[in-house]
Amino acid sequence: MKIGFIQFHPEFGKKEKNVEKAVGIIRDIDADLIVLPELFNSGYLFTSAEEVENISEDVPSGYTTQSLLHVAKDTDTFIVAGLAEKAEGARYNSAVLLGPEGFVGLYRKAHLFKDEVKWFEKGDTGFNVHDIGLARIGMMICFDWIFPEAARTLALKGADIICHPSNLMLPFCQKAMITRSLENGVFSLTCNRVGVEERGGERLEFTGLSQIVDPKGNVLALASEDEEGTQVVEIDPMEARDKTVGINKIFQERRTDLYELS
Ligand code: ACM
Repeated sequence: MKIGFIQFHPEFGKKEKNVEKAVGIIRDIDADLIVLPELFNSGYLFTSAEEVENISEDVPSGYTTQSLLHVAKDTDTFIVAGLAEKAEGARYNSAVLLGPEGFVGLYRKAHLFKDEVKWFEKGDTGFNVHDIGLARIGMMICFDWIFPEAARTLALKGADIICHPSNLMLPFCQKAMITRSLENGVFSLTCNRVGVEERGGERLEFTGLSQIVDPKGNVLALASEDEEGTQVVEIDPMEARDKTVGINKIFQERRTDLYELS
């Protein structure tokens, strides 16, 4: 199975332009599964609820999802992409999973980072796993990485590959995702963005270094910290069904009788 990321620099507010650019890149890639960053179509640094409202979309009927569905079908590719979603009067920082046969799944970001709480509701979808035939796919978004329960839930539900659209600014996530992959015996695919956004007196720099990690914690692909780029690697998703580290069975040996997680 060929899986990859498109490390991307969206132009804030230029939805059609960002989507067209991503679609063009996907048309040129040979991959089974491609991940785009969090909020890839809109940019990140919102300054008003009105801006978010104007750019957010219904899923799956909105422009972004429909455009990606077309290219998923034309190219026989599964796509995970982060976008601002509008649903029943609320807005969510969401990710969609789309395939050649149509819409597959939706994830709404559970753990909002900093000012995101001004623009989005906390996600209510939970962490679900979608069997796409080639592999079982889970989604989480950016800051979810710091809550190990997110990746653990996806792994316990059978995810082989965790797709992780991101807009990272802090430097810790990539190392943490190596651990998330190892401790859960899963592939993880973190797709970050690059570039700077300066709006409303604030400046944010996004840190790139998108990466793909295998279930043993090996980094299979790593992007640059400041340039756009696409990387695709070939994996055997069945490696994620082996939950051993040496002779230890890391799922069977969990001491659920001792953990206190609530
Ligand atoms: C983040 O969750 N975008 C840092």
